Amino acid sequence: MDVAQLQFLAQQLRKPDGDAGRQIGEQMNAGNYLMNKNTLEHLQAPTGARILEIGMGNGHFVKDILATDPTIRYTGCDYAETMVAEAQARNAAFQQSGQADFMLASASELPFDNDTFDRIFAVNTIYFWEDPAKELAEIRRVLKPDGKLLIAARPSWVMEQMPFTDYGFTRYSKEQLADVLHNNSFSVIELEETREPEYTVNGIVTQMGHMIAIAIKNQ
Ligand SMILES: C[S@@+](CC[C@H](N)C(=O)[O-])C[C@H]1O[C@@H](n2cnc3c(N)ncnc32)[C@H](O)[C@@H]1O
Repeated sequence: MDVAQLQFLAQQLRKPDGDAGRQIGEQMNAGNYLMNKNTLEHLQAPTGARILEIGMGNGHFVKDILATDPTIRYTGCDYAETMVAEAQARNAAFQQSGQADFMLASASELPFDNDTFDRIFAVNTIYFWEDPAKELAEIRRVLKPDGKLLIAARPSWVMEQMPFTDYGFTRYSKEQLADVLHNNSFSVIELEETREPEYTVNGIVTQMGHMIAIAIKNQ
């Protein structure tokens, strides 16, 4: 891939748009399957929980959350119009039943009241936060006092194998992920790294892996 192609791919991953964005959404569902599955297993949401996902993409995994417990109320927000439309179309039945809703919103300005959610999670999204202090302050505001935040990301040693992440991604090592949470008034209660099988991304064989941080807000 030449530089222009790498930049285009990076831009689409950052904010999927139009037909190319829909295709990228499909590719992400496959490539990020293990990571999303593992994150959902760590949610452990209580009965009747309100869950917020930031950057849900096309909402492919929402059905897996709601299958575990029909009392859960899920809200997805993403700042890409194409992804919000896709997620709504894929989850129309859950929207009708009131179990899920989707909003066009940025992590830096969340349209929710204080102390609303029991769980907030974001998978493969922190790389794009312009000013993590701002996004984490918003998350802190809308997370209930006893709520949990889960951030899942590919560690920097994985991202460094993917040349498109040179364009507009902030890479985090495990330590840097812990630091950014600590520096923004969260306590990390769990931080694990998982190796995944190799995966071919745009012709490049990549040793995959992901990390999941679980944090609570400092009172
Ligand atoms: C790389 S995709 C990941 C999608 C899905 N979570 C996954 O793991 O496959 C990143 C998604 O986060 C959204 N996103 C990135 N930055 C965001 C922000 N600051 N606020 C809201 N959504 C954001 C993008 O529009 C995109 O849908």
